[in-house]
Amino acid sequence: MEYIKSKIRDVYDFPKPGIIFRDLTTMFKDPRAMHIVGWDLAQLYRDKGVTKVVGIESRGFIGGAILAYEIGAGFVPARKPGKLPADTVSASFEKEYGTDTIEIHRDAITPDDVVVLHDDLLATGGTMAACYELVKSMNPRKIYINFIVELSALNGRKNLPADADVRSLIVY
Ligand code: PRP
Ligand code: MG
Repeated sequence: MEYIKSKIRDVYDFPKPGIIFRDLTTMFKDPRAMHIVGWDLAQLYRDKGVTKVVGIESRGFIGGAILAYEIGAGFVPARKPGKLPADTVSASFEKEYGTDTIEIHRDAITPDDVVVLHDDLLATGGTMAACYELVKSMNPRKIYINFIVELSALNGRKNLPADADVRSLIVY
């Protein structure tokens, strides 16, 4: 885990002064870190009968696809509005500046699914909370929530359901 952490780049004052941006691109470009992340994500869910991994656009697509492949699950993209071609369900949420929306194909999750919702990073939790509500409305058997990185200072977990199973590989 220390190896993965050592490959995450801290970018100061991005996207605005005072913010430290935890840049995962330096970790994804490192072959050994990619291998470890894929393995460690998979270890969290191997015995759970997971059938679908939902990756949140766009940074959640990378780890989500790796996790799905590693545990033999399908991959479902949760996308920004207007990108998915077939019938969708959508949820809106507050971002720092205004409102954001995510969409999932209506037939992407079925009641027999066991789902992991994956994103690269937990900040305020707004993105994941919206994704959780969206997927919950599709009535899967079980929903797990997963991040590579959790920024604990922002206490994003308080915006996630109290009874949700939330797991992060790295906590700052
Ligand atoms: C970032 C990050 C998470 C989200 C976390 O995505 O990848 O998805 O913000 O923030 P929150 O917990 O406060 O909701 P962003 O919206 O910047 O888009 P991107 O993944 O397409 O870069
Ligand atoms: Mg994102």
